[in-house]
Amino acid sequence: MEDLRDRTVLVTGASAGIGAATARRFSRAGARVVLAARRRDRLEAVAAELEGEAVVLPLDVTSASETKTALAAWDFDVVVPNAGMARGVAKLHEGDPADWAAMLDTNVKGVLHVLHATLPGMIERGRGDVVLLGSVAGREVYPGGNVYCASKFAVHAIYRALREDSMGHGVRYTTVDPGMVETEFSLVRFEGDRARASAVYDGMTPLQPDDVADAIVWAVTRPRHVNVGEIVLWPTDQTSTTRVHRAATQ
Ligand SMILES: NC(=O)c1ccc[n+]([C@@H]2O[C@H](COP(=O)([O-])OP(=O)(O)OC[C@H]3O[C@@H](n4cnc5c(N)ncnc54)[C@H](OP(=O)(O)O)[C@@H]3O)[C@@H](O)[C@H]2O)c1
Repeated sequence: MEDLRDRTVLVTGASAGIGAATARRFSRAGARVVLAARRRDRLEAVAAELEGEAVVLPLDVTSASETKTALAAWDFDVVVPNAGMARGVAKLHEGDPADWAAMLDTNVKGVLHVLHATLPGMIERGRGDVVLLGSVAGREVYPGGNVYCASKFAVHAIYRALREDSMGHGVRYTTVDPGMVETEFSLVRFEGDRARASAVYDGMTPLQPDDVADAIVWAVTRPRHVNVGEIVLWPTDQTSTTRVHRAATQ
């Protein structure tokens, strides 16, 4: 098993949800954790809970130059480009191009910016781990999912391309693709509408952020000759992007 002590881990989107849980898990395993996202106060609150070394790096991954500059000084052992979002569930022909841009700029270009800033060093050092946050939405589409699904299908293509392009350089790539996870994701998607966001999980038991973090840390702690490729995590109550078992609620 790989030892994470003295390893440096970058988690983007560490101010909430899956990213914050991932930062906590890596920290507990002894790693030095660099927490990146836009909201400094939220990053500081997560970092304050961690026992080990933690560095807060306010950063907007949609900016290639900002991302490059912020990450330039670091040699990362593990990179988790987790920052991502969805906006709305409009049909494609009724959608807003500004929402499409936000999703594609964050979920696709943001991942590429982080990789562009961190991968060359890993390849030069001949070792590293990258864990992408895909989604079951990157495997199946659902009504109103259109551009968000396209962004996650793109993440899956990026994962496959990475494995091909840097074969032989000692870097491992994993995509962790969850179904429904209870985070701020739906709150962001529905622009702060709490009732609508919480209704997403009505009568069913979703995954928790720590369930996903557990899978991420498990993948990177396998022996180095083992590359865990794709992990799909479903809530037991969900069988596809359109089928969810909900207990009757009153
Ligand atoms: N929740 C689910 O059901 C689910 C299922 C499958 C996959 N995923 C994926 O899991 C990942 C994490 O989502 P989550 O569910 O944990 O959502 P979340 O609770 O809303 O967290 C999203 C994180 O991304 C950060 N972020 C958003 N835009 C950013 C930007 N431009 N630059 C830097 N950071 C940015 C946010 O921080 P700031 O706002 O502070 O920047 C926040 O820390 C995403 O890639 C999402 O697509 C989620």
